[in-house]
Amino acid sequence: MSTLLALASLALASGCDGQPPRGDVREWRPSDHQQPAEPDPARTPAEPGAEPTPEMVARAAAALFDARCASCHGTSGRGDGPEAPTATMPDLTRPEYHDARSDADVARAIRMGQGLMPAFGGQLNERGIGALVGHVRSLRATP
Ligand code: HEC
Repeated sequence: MSTLLALASLALASGCDGQPPRGDVREWRPSDHQQPAEPDPARTPAEPGAEPTPEMVARAAAALFDARCASCHGTSGRGDGPEAPTATMPDLTRPEYHDARSDADVARAIRMGQGLMPAFGGQLNERGIGALVGHVRSLRATP
């Protein structure tokens, strides 16, 4: 349930209060919202309107990736999803991929699209895109 709440908070036009973040488009950080450093288990499920914890955001981003990205990229990010439009899908698990791109590069590809990949900037807010960048980073294969 809390994953669904966090997921909803990543989609466009479903922010806490509908207010744009004052033209501030840098990536969201937990510290922006003065959360306690340690999530307090006594406070779960979060009260309505509360900011999701980083763990909730990570879970929501994984669910969002499965729903919107895995059809092409595959759940693991290897590029082996059933709808992959090209044989040259990038393998998002490769360390070389991650080393060659900044978070801004990854965010731009998600926001604007690239080649045969559609743009998601019209469907996701910056927090959602930032959460997906975090998820893409988590796909990196560990040696
Ligand atoms: C319709 C299939 C499709 C879907 C859905 C899709 N992608 Fe892609 N994605 C691609 C293709 C194809 C490329 C390679 C684009 C190119 O470089 O030609 C790509 C490239 C990328 C890259 C690498 C960009 C770079 O740095 O070169 C990232 C990161 C990425 N996708 C993330 C995502 C995320 C996150 C989602 C879900 C919100 C998503 N994609 C949904 C097809 C898709």
